[in-house]
Amino acid sequence: MKLVYRGAEADIFSDEWAGEKAIFKFRKPLPYRHPELDAEIRAQRTVREAEILHDAKSSGVSTPSLYYVSQRESLIVMEEIEGTRLKSFLESPGRDRARVSTEFGIAVGRLHLGGIMHGDLTTSNVLLDDGGVHLIDFGLATHSIRVEDHAVDLRLIKETLIGAHAEIAARVMSSFVKGYTREVGEARARTVGRKLIEIERRGRYARLE
Ligand SMILES: Nc1ncnc2c1ncn2[C@@H]1O[C@H](COP(=O)(O)OP(=O)(O)OP(=O)(O)O)[C@@H](O)[C@H]1O
Ligand SMILES: [Mg+2]
Repeated sequence: MKLVYRGAEADIFSDEWAGEKAIFKFRKPLPYRHPELDAEIRAQRTVREAEILHDAKSSGVSTPSLYYVSQRESLIVMEEIEGTRLKSFLESPGRDRARVSTEFGIAVGRLHLGGIMHGDLTTSNVLLDDGGVHLIDFGLATHSIRVEDHAVDLRLIKETLIGAHAEIAARVMSSFVKGYTREVGEARARTVGRKLIEIERRGRYARLE
């Protein structure tokens, strides 16, 4: 097995599963958490990720296909998407950013229409290949149709863009919103957008207190 990524909570390996290229995501024990609580959290996030990967796909969002889940081992085996992270795509110049950003907005719009909040929508959790935009890393996702939850997803996207891709953040965000609006409709997009502004204001005042 080849280690492809060592994260804070999970190690990601690449190998084969029934002849297909596959990703093995192991959530590892965290020493600073109480062992029983730790095992519970890992099992819960593993199951949640597996379930929501599947539900997102049913909502028309492209996600890796699920091959195998083991709650006991905190392991998910899934299709390997052979692509690049949105993060590195946005960092390299002269690419078709507007189109990709709009596609990203469409994917998130579909996810929200399907009643799912992703919970960790950074540009490292979006993969691109010739087939388009794929969403991954659903360990913090929840079923929710609440405006507030959807706005929280958009807020993280916006913050990640401003933090890591400042010069292009505004343009990417405007293409994203175009795609998002196309999926969820003008009225809903406006409602979520207003909530986003409200949350941003709240955050700013909270910091001043
Ligand atoms: N199905 C996949 N196909 C291709 N690459 C993947 C796939 N799943 C994960 N990766 C790669 O591994 C990286 C980390 O995966 P992921 O985001 O799921 O884990 P993580 O951020 O450590 O998760 P968590 O924070 O929930 O523990 C991704 O950014 C991506 O580069
Ligand atoms: Mg991740």
